[in-house]
Amino acid sequence: MSLRRAKITAVGTFVPQRIVTNDELSLMLDTSDEWISARTGIRERHIAGKEAASDLGAVAARRALEAAGVGAGKVDLIIVASLSPDALFPSTASYISAAIGAGGAPVFDLSAACTGFIYALSVGAAYIASEQAERVLIIGADVASKMVDWTDRRTAVLFGDGAGAVLLEPAGEGEEGIIGFSLGNDPAGVDQLSIPAGGSRLPATEATVAEHMHFIQMNGREVYKFASRIIVSSARQVLQEHGRRVEDVDLFVPHQANIRIIDSAARRLGFPPEKVFSNLERYGNTSCASIPLCLDEAATVGRLKRGDLVLMVGFGGGLSWGSCLARW
Ligand code: COA
Repeated sequence: MSLRRAKITAVGTFVPQRIVTNDELSLMLDTSDEWISARTGIRERHIAGKEAASDLGAVAARRALEAAGVGAGKVDLIIVASLSPDALFPSTASYISAAIGAGGAPVFDLSAACTGFIYALSVGAAYIASEQAERVLIIGADVASKMVDWTDRRTAVLFGDGAGAVLLEPAGEGEEGIIGFSLGNDPAGVDQLSIPAGGSRLPATEATVAEHMHFIQMNGREVYKFASRIIVSSARQVLQEHGRRVEDVDLFVPHQANIRIIDSAARRLGFPPEKVFSNLERYGNTSCASIPLCLDEAATVGRLKRGDLVLMVGFGGGLSWGSCLARW
């Protein structure tokens, strides 16, 4: 007997209103629109004001539930993926649950850096498969703008804020829904991308603050090489495991970190440009929100249609990665 499949039945997203262009960043950092556009493909990003990750995530969640016509009280589980949680605890999921009125459903956060959304999808799909839940809300919500060092041009220009939520429900009779995942983590890369302080290893002290250790630190070149390689191998693995070819895929949705990474991966995999989705130019790297932001926009503009085969690939700190193959 095969396990029941999960299906994404609705999407909702939210980004803060304020847009910060590369030119604006050039006023506060030794950088330029030319450098940022050429090296990353980013032109502008949305930046939160006082909002925390849960404030963005709650709006995205409400929109997804509205789109599905499901009340918050009917959700059986909420999983939030974030690298910029409201607090160390309680979970950002707890704050979102309170904000949307989810009642007594279990909720938790999942920490897998920018790969978090794909990891969370895999957990939600497993709850549906094991019949522990009928409706799972998966939310990727990040305000990385609060976690970057605004004096460090190497990282500050890369990120933007946003949230995306999807509702998972059991796939109907004969529907493929979510077909499978390929997930992994390379522990050798554990120090390449992190916020070193503020946890139990380096609790906050005057020194950790003075040394900017509460901000995102990244070995850009190493992460670049890792990402370019892992997107390709992870995508190939999930396709192969499920007997699909690149030609079968209607839309390739990679994590939005750098257009050069996306273009090189797409080229090596053999995707023509019209099958590759990117909105990085307008949002920057929104961490756990990047893939659902793409799904929502692609569906809205008609580039992702019911019945399409979509391949999502995420990567990030850990160094972690994850691919998901799904029938839309
Ligand atoms: N504006 C202007 N110059 C900048 C700059 C900025 N915002 N950021 C870095 N530079 C400078 C560097 O200081 C360096 O100068 P130097 O040669 O005088 O030392 C020069 O540009 C080249 O830096 P380098 O780091 O080699 O650039 P790069 O081509 O590797 O691009 C990244 C840097 C960060 C854009 C790129 O490495 C990258 O995208 N890495 C992956 C990041 C990622 O995906 N992170 C998220 C994972 S979820």
